[in-house]
Amino acid sequence: MPEHPMSASAAARPLKARRSGPLQGVAAVPGDKSISHRALILGALALGETKITGLLEAEDVLNTAGVVRAFGARAVRVGAGQWHVNGTGVGGWGEPADVLDFGNSGTGSRLVMGAMATTPVTAVFTGDTSLRKRPMGRVLEPLTLFGAEYEARAGGLMPLTLKGAAQAICVNHKVAVASAQVKSAMLLAALNAPGRSRISQATLTRDHTERMLAAFGAEISVEPLPEGGEAISLMGEAELRGTPVDVPRDPSSAAFAIVAGLIVPDSEITIPAVLLNPRRSGLIDKLREMGARIDISNARESGGETIGDLVVHASALKGIEIPPDRAPAMIDEYPILAVASAFAEGPTVMRGLEELRIKESDRLAAIVAGLRAGGIAVAELEDGMIVEGRGADGVPGGGNVATHMDHRIAMSFLVMGLASRNLMSVDDVSMIATSFPQFEELMRHLGAQFETVT
Ligand code: S3P
Repeated sequence: MPEHPMSASAAARPLKARRSGPLQGVAAVPGDKSISHRALILGALALGETKITGLLEAEDVLNTAGVVRAFGARAVRVGAGQWHVNGTGVGGWGEPADVLDFGNSGTGSRLVMGAMATTPVTAVFTGDTSLRKRPMGRVLEPLTLFGAEYEARAGGLMPLTLKGAAQAICVNHKVAVASAQVKSAMLLAALNAPGRSRISQATLTRDHTERMLAAFGAEISVEPLPEGGEAISLMGEAELRGTPVDVPRDPSSAAFAIVAGLIVPDSEITIPAVLLNPRRSGLIDKLREMGARIDISNARESGGETIGDLVVHASALKGIEIPPDRAPAMIDEYPILAVASAFAEGPTVMRGLEELRIKESDRLAAIVAGLRAGGIAVAELEDGMIVEGRGADGVPGGGNVATHMDHRIAMSFLVMGLASRNLMSVDDVSMIATSFPQFEELMRHLGAQFETVT
């Protein structure tokens, strides 16, 4: 396996999915992407050794490993998913000798912007054609409050240059968007700013950075705000200590196996040791409300996060309304939820999804187009969609889906093809390697029928 692939594979690889028999067995999905990025970055900022197990070895995370090396940390793969990181200490990152290429990864790039923003080094950030279309001003602008400076293409796009502050100052800032990436970038920047910074947010977004900072020895506290949301206080000039991290399995990858298990008749799939952080488990809650039988057992603590074992049984689903305030807890799961809704009886209404327009693709548009290609009626709203479910046996399929360099669009519509009447094809599965390289093999092992297009 390449340790630093830089950009995702160039050649598009189409794939077809065919209606399959019952899916059965154990789906050991890989490590959580969000936690994997953070483990490498915090390890690179800490003093001493961080031993990581269960790291997601997908292109996005491997790019982050290459980048922290470029800043002077040691990150070595010692076995499957096992990495040892030796950091420089907070403020100890050196200047990278070359342009940093983050490939497809918004998370890697935005978190690293924060992590270097209060250290006096300059770095040039770039990525693949998808990442170069995504807005970076949402991170760069607030980072200037610490004293960082940047120059980007029009619209705050990569390639861009970020110059870390030589004399950083602490900040009191309310994050304007419902983004864990922006919040995390601000927290990572605050680590090297003298004094106590306060970062607040009106929405509760995923909190892996906060949890991991506490585990690495940062002085951090979180208080709820009377008007909703929360404020995080973090003491700067922190001394982080290398800490073991056991990365739980990724619920956003598990989502594809979960929905496949629900919609393919008579399936039963076990998914062990999945992250069950309440800010990530919105999909499971909503699928259960739709009538899904998903049993959770053996809930336990692991490295400051809750994990548990899931058993998914094929289920009759009904459409529901998903309120906008659920979006942050399942933001990456809307493509696969939309596929589940197609197999439900009646409409499913999803709102509050403006953020989907600036993910790896315009995911709202890509989902709507994909559903229509599969014969499903769907209304596209500015901030959401209404999917007219056709019931367990009623999805026509038969379409060809444009994935727009978006791994989750590719996986979602392959799953659709496993239970639709006719084959579904997607135009490119190469991007799946950015988050879930084992997807095809793992799904085939459960009984999924995929056909390569020659
Ligand atoms: C992530 C946060 C989310 C999510 C992304 C991972 C993270 O992005 O979509 O896949 O690890 O912080 P936003 O915070 O921009 O919504």
